Amino acid sequence: MKHNLLSQKPKYLLFFICLIPLSRNPTRGETPQVYCTNGTNYTNGSKFETNLNLLLPPLTTNGPLNNNTFYNTSYGKEPDRVYGFAQCMSGAPIGDCRVCLNNSWVQILQNCPNRKQAAIRYYNCLLRYSDGPFFSQVETTQRKGIYNTQNIPDPVRFNALVKTLMENVSTTAAMNPSRIGTGVTDYTQSASLYGLAQCTRDLSNISCYRCLEEAIGGITWCCDGKQGGNVYFVSCNIRYDIYPFYPASVNPIRVSIPSPPPHDAETPLWNSSPNNSDGVSKQGKKGKTSQSIAIGLTVTFVGLVLLGCFIFLLHRRRKLQEDQIKRAQLTWKIRHNIVNGIARGLLYLHEDSRLKVIHRDLKASNVLLDYEMNPKISDFGLARTFRENQGVANTKKVIGTYGYMAPEYAMHGRFSVKSDVFSFGVLLLEILSGKKNSRSYLAENAQSLLAHAWQLWCDGNMMELIDPILIDSCPVDEVLRFVHIGLLCIQQDATDRPTMSSVVLMLGSKSVTLPHPTEPPLYLGKREVILEQSSSNPKTFSNNKVTISEVGPG
Ligand SMILES: *[C@@H]1O[C@H](CO)[C@@H](O)[C@H](O)[C@H]1NC(C)=O
Ligand SMILES: *[C@@H]1O[C@H](CO)[C@@H](O)[C@H](O)[C@H]1NC(C)=O
Ligand SMILES: *[C@@H]1O[C@H](CO)[C@@H](O)[C@H](O)[C@H]1NC(C)=O
Ligand SMILES: *[C@@H]1O[C@H](CO)[C@@H](O)[C@H](O)[C@H]1NC(C)=O
Ligand SMILES: *[C@@H]1O[C@H](CO)[C@@H](O)[C@H](O)[C@H]1NC(C)=O
Ligand SMILES: *[C@@H]1O[C@H](CO)[C@@H](O)[C@H](O)[C@H]1NC(C)=O
Ligand SMILES: *[C@@H]1O[C@H](CO)[C@@H](O)[C@H](O)[C@H]1NC(C)=O
Ligand SMILES: *[C@@H]1O[C@H](CO)[C@@H](O)[C@H](O)[C@H]1NC(C)=O
Ligand SMILES: *[C@@H]1O[C@H](CO)[C@@H](O)[C@H](O)[C@H]1NC(C)=O
Repeated sequence: MKHNLLSQKPKYLLFFICLIPLSRNPTRGETPQVYCTNGTNYTNGSKFETNLNLLLPPLTTNGPLNNNTFYNTSYGKEPDRVYGFAQCMSGAPIGDCRVCLNNSWVQILQNCPNRKQAAIRYYNCLLRYSDGPFFSQVETTQRKGIYNTQNIPDPVRFNALVKTLMENVSTTAAMNPSRIGTGVTDYTQSASLYGLAQCTRDLSNISCYRCLEEAIGGITWCCDGKQGGNVYFVSCNIRYDIYPFYPASVNPIRVSIPSPPPHDAETPLWNSSPNNSDGVSKQGKKGKTSQSIAIGLTVTFVGLVLLGCFIFLLHRRRKLQEDQIKRAQLTWKIRHNIVNGIARGLLYLHEDSRLKVIHRDLKASNVLLDYEMNPKISDFGLARTFRENQGVANTKKVIGTYGYMAPEYAMHGRFSVKSDVFSFGVLLLEILSGKKNSRSYLAENAQSLLAHAWQLWCDGNMMELIDPILIDSCPVDEVLRFVHIGLLCIQQDATDRPTMSSVVLMLGSKSVTLPHPTEPPLYLGKREVILEQSSSNPKTFSNNKVTISEVGPG
């Protein structure tokens, strides 16, 4: 059910001024896969702890030295002996692997306190220890999955393609001494399907293949009907997606899979990759009839889209000729007015209305502008009301908009007025920069607006963030002050973020001193859902755990 607080006819969605996607070089702030095994714990000050603390330093420093293979070692005498294993992932630069293992050392102790068995996997490295020997043994008791939330239009065909590709890639990995395999195949004329499989290098070719088979079996559990997925065990992992997710240096093997006729009319749902001139030769064989139907549908579809665009443009142009406002006219004065209007609107919801209302889905497209460019907050479909004394709520169902969701809401379902403040901060930075917080499926390789803004703040170069259209028309110190306020709103820690009443105060008064912002959430993940499961091993029994984890905006 949706309620609209509109009092006047909207003229524009604010959305229109925020259309330029941002892309920049990657910075990786990764969430690792952690595997802590339940069972007996070691106690502080025990011999086991001493041995572990002596095992980890050489493991993490020598790991990268072993010619990029793996390093295993053990320390101490039974029953307190500790066994360790470190591996740099294939292709990881040695320096990156060194930092990665050093970081893993800290993280494994923090994430799995007092555990006798644990493993941690990052993109660049893997670290594992145990109270028993495990070299060359396949470990698949804990299964984790991450899927890309984008649905695939033709799951039956896609699933079959994924399976065939991943079988091929897994064979490649098992036969490769580095225990890694990559492959790419054609999915549609404009999209390819990319796959990766890898095992820890202590596994034999047969063990590796067995592990990967199990991972392929996990695709249905994890990622059915989605355009991308990852299945992880301690000993191996697989990944596939319709964009090249590995570094540019990786050259995947082209795998040819004879395909049933693709459904052309259904497919153009995402951007095609820039180079795809050889599309025609990639097509599977098709009957003439289905081809003409497909062409007919495509032509009709394109026709309808063009007609739609035409009507839309005509309509829009007429409107433009009427309230004569263009993007260039979204001058500083107008944007200033919009920002203040939204801030006061939120303040009203949070504090001044009889019931405390948390909007939960504040974003550019939910802000409507009237004839006089006054903003109206709309779409209260997700809003929740609170009693006076209740400030925070949890929900198992995380709904909102990628790019605007506060990390504690996206990851733990915890929302409060401070999660609205976060969304406001994102919106504010979008309005000032004229750029949209990145949400393309290539987001992993692009820098989010938040990361970009933070980088510029650290470099002391905030002017570069400002929409060039504004530069000439705006008082620089005021705009910079707004950016500063935006950064305060998007701080990682909700308690650091100001309330809307402070925001309104800070926006309105130059004399209020602004504190230094702390770092925003920079993780550049895509919208993904993380699944975890332990097999019914009596030692490590647990039910399926499902958490929504759209990590950070960006
Ligand atoms: C081991 O320690 C962890 C973390 O302190 C705890 O959650 C777990 O219940 C402990 N397990 C046992 C068997 O005591
Ligand atoms: C063990 O030591 C760590 C710090 O090294 C501490 O955080 C933890 O609470 C201690 N555990 C117990 C059971 O005393
Ligand atoms: C690592 O490789 C170099 C040459 O590439 C070789 O000289 C060295 O012996 C190798 N070290 C190990 C531990 O295999
Ligand atoms: C390392 O693993 C190999 C098997 O891959 C095993 O033979 C060797 O004993 C292990 N090294 C140590 C120090 O335990
Ligand atoms: C490893 O991390 C520690 C801090 O945890 C740091 O002091 C040390 O310099 C790091 N070593 C390397 C090689 O990065
Ligand atoms: C697998 O490993 C075994 C033993 O190392 C070897 O004899 C066999 O040829 C390998 N198979 C393949 C397909 O590489
Ligand atoms: C994988 O695909 C390549 C290219 O199509 C092919 O040459 C190779 O035989 C395939 N491997 C397996 C195990 O199917
Ligand atoms: C796209 O084409 C350009 C030039 O033809 C080439 O440099 C680039 O590597 C290609 N990119 C991909 C993803 O194939
Ligand atoms: C370990 O035990 C804790 C509770 O003690 C549980 O929450 C967790 O899911 C268990 N993990 C596994 C891998 O079984």
